[in-house]
Amino acid sequence: MTTTTEEEEESEQVVTPWDVSAGADGKIDYAKLVREFGCSEIDKNLIERIEMCTQTKAHPFLRRGLFFAHRELDEIVTAYEKGEKFYLYTGRGPSSESLHLGHLVPFQFTKWLQDAFKVPLVIQLTDDEKFLWKDLQLEDCRRLARENAKDIAACGFNPETTFIFADASYMCSSFYVNMVKIAKCVTFNQAKGIFGFTGDSNIGQIGFPPVQAAPSFPDCFPHMFGMNKKSLKCLIPCAIDQDPYFRMTRDVSHRIGGYKPALVESRFFPALKGESGKMSASDPTSAIYVTDTAKEIKNKINKHAFSGGGATIEEQRENGANLEVDVPWKWLNFFLEDDEKLKEIGEKYGSGEMLTGEIKQILVDVLTPMVEDHQKRRALVTDEVLDVYFNPTKTPKVFLDLFREYEEKEFGKWEKKKGGGDSENDDLCAALEEKMKLEGATENEEGCAIGAPKSEDWLRIRKERMQRDAPTEGSKSALKKAAKIKAAAEKKAAEKAAKAAARGEAAT
Ligand code: TYM
Repeated sequence: MTTTTEEEEESEQVVTPWDVSAGADGKIDYAKLVREFGCSEIDKNLIERIEMCTQTKAHPFLRRGLFFAHRELDEIVTAYEKGEKFYLYTGRGPSSESLHLGHLVPFQFTKWLQDAFKVPLVIQLTDDEKFLWKDLQLEDCRRLARENAKDIAACGFNPETTFIFADASYMCSSFYVNMVKIAKCVTFNQAKGIFGFTGDSNIGQIGFPPVQAAPSFPDCFPHMFGMNKKSLKCLIPCAIDQDPYFRMTRDVSHRIGGYKPALVESRFFPALKGESGKMSASDPTSAIYVTDTAKEIKNKINKHAFSGGGATIEEQRENGANLEVDVPWKWLNFFLEDDEKLKEIGEKYGSGEMLTGEIKQILVDVLTPMVEDHQKRRALVTDEVLDVYFNPTKTPKVFLDLFREYEEKEFGKWEKKKGGGDSENDDLCAALEEKMKLEGATENEEGCAIGAPKSEDWLRIRKERMQRDAPTEGSKSALKKAAKIKAAAEKKAAEKAAKAAARGEAAT
């Protein structure tokens, strides 16, 4: 057995969903985290594959290694390359009135993922978690969830394909069923090992991890994805502090009949006073908030940003800055988009040609418009706008546009197989609905939202059915089915045309 001295214990880095502190050298050892957590580093090849299959240049967070670790992101990409989509899941624990810049990191990246891959997104607000851990009333956490949701919506998520929910309001039967199934797979001893619970932890805390785990399974959102636990795979963007929740989730996934969620994980955006410090709502000078004014941003950066520059102008000119610990430099790596400019600043500041005051001014010039733009977008997020994100009856049909290409391919194959048919069919959704019914699937039975891609199981079942029911010459029933589909589509088109004509008449 090895023993550690008290001093050694104190200097160990700590990374849990509730505590993040650097080791003795004031730095977080990310390579060590990857080893201990058992995730993988994102390599150049994976980034290139993402760029290829999305036809989009990688986000700076990805190009610069700020999102640096993953679990089975490569498998999500492989499936996507074959035409299979997925959904994104991320979240926020609403414990303060506003978000700090570190919180924007996963949301900005998620927005990029949503646009690049064109996939739906669910965002969990864990008002229950913050009630259980913080000295806050539940009603306060519920109010903060809505306030924070405004800042999240201001990141520009598509309201049609993004569902935001707060645990205390959304908890529905299928969500609860998932939670209970997950909870049964994890012993208290395992939970202690993963999360560090002790005899003093309240039992709400001990029971909480399944709440954050459950949205990794699509049937928590039957209105969006149907009731099949394998209708879609899930990808979770977050900082690496959330990894323990999803390590646990992945361990139990197969036992409850679901896919393991994939993860893409970031480094931490460091606190203003240095990586060893914490961004804390109780110390407003430790972070910049999305509500800060231009003056506050300037003051905070000039007075409190930890500098790796020389103590005097002479020293800086002589030795240059230590970029490893310099906060303005680290922050620019997150938020200065121009790669060339960033490189130039690094060279000049690292060599002493640039002074600390200059790099701080550059940071002020980058952050001020970014925060001001955020504030303008947030002002547009009224309660009505927010209600669209929170609406738990988003119709599955909205996914048809997202998955049109995929479904058209599938539908085309089916049409070809059944022998000809109406390829000009412009009401794909109605035809698909009809097709599913004719194939013997009800939405709940197969659990597939119309327009959402199907799980491997579903594709297999469908293939078997198609082979079984393939129209052959003289197969009356198959020809009848094909005619029925065509008739249904024609009827729908005629209704649409009649409605359009009526509207035209009314207008004249
Ligand atoms: P919370 O509110 O602590 O943090 C919200 C998100 O921000 C990330 N984050 C950071 N990223 C970069 N630098 C930082 N300094 C920094 N601080 C926080 C977090 O990793 C998180 O992604 N329990 C969660 C809420 C949650 C969640 C989820 C998060 C529920 N379901 C699914 C991610 C994925 C929480 O309290 O996050």
